[in-house]
Amino acid sequence: MHSWMAGGHMVSGDLRVHWKDSFAVGDPTIDAQHKAFFEDINRLAEALDGDAPHQAAITFYRAFRRDLARHFREEEEILQATGFPDLSAHGAEHEALLASVQGMEEMLRDYPDTADLRLMLRRLFQALIEHVIGEDMRYRPYLRQGSAP
Ligand SMILES: [Fe+2]
Ligand SMILES: [Fe+2]
Repeated sequence: MHSWMAGGHMVSGDLRVHWKDSFAVGDPTIDAQHKAFFEDINRLAEALDGDAPHQAAITFYRAFRRDLARHFREEEEILQATGFPDLSAHGAEHEALLASVQGMEEMLRDYPDTADLRLMLRRLFQALIEHVIGEDMRYRPYLRQGSAP
């Protein structure tokens, strides 16, 4: 079990996630963006408990998808300057995640607020968090050394 799975759950029932310094990859731009995503997710979790959860989620996703696309682009640019050998596979995973976020956005638009929808929100965040603290960790040694380890 990963250390971030508090109580056996990757993301707690209410979606909240907790940043740890051990999630840092060592690049200030990337780390600030990753940290901001954790904060965004927690803000959405709060909004889902508020008065207009469905509208809050729709509004959230519009900005989230834009920020995520920007992050992926900048991360790929940074990685291009390193010797990271799996950049194309990594980029493909970014594309897949963005497609999922877009799909989620459409679901939010087309379906009312339901338990299923919330479950899907949670799963999508799990996938994103897993990318940040799983896949993104794999390029960490390349960032540190500036060339192949
Ligand atoms: Fe990332
Ligand atoms: Fe990534």
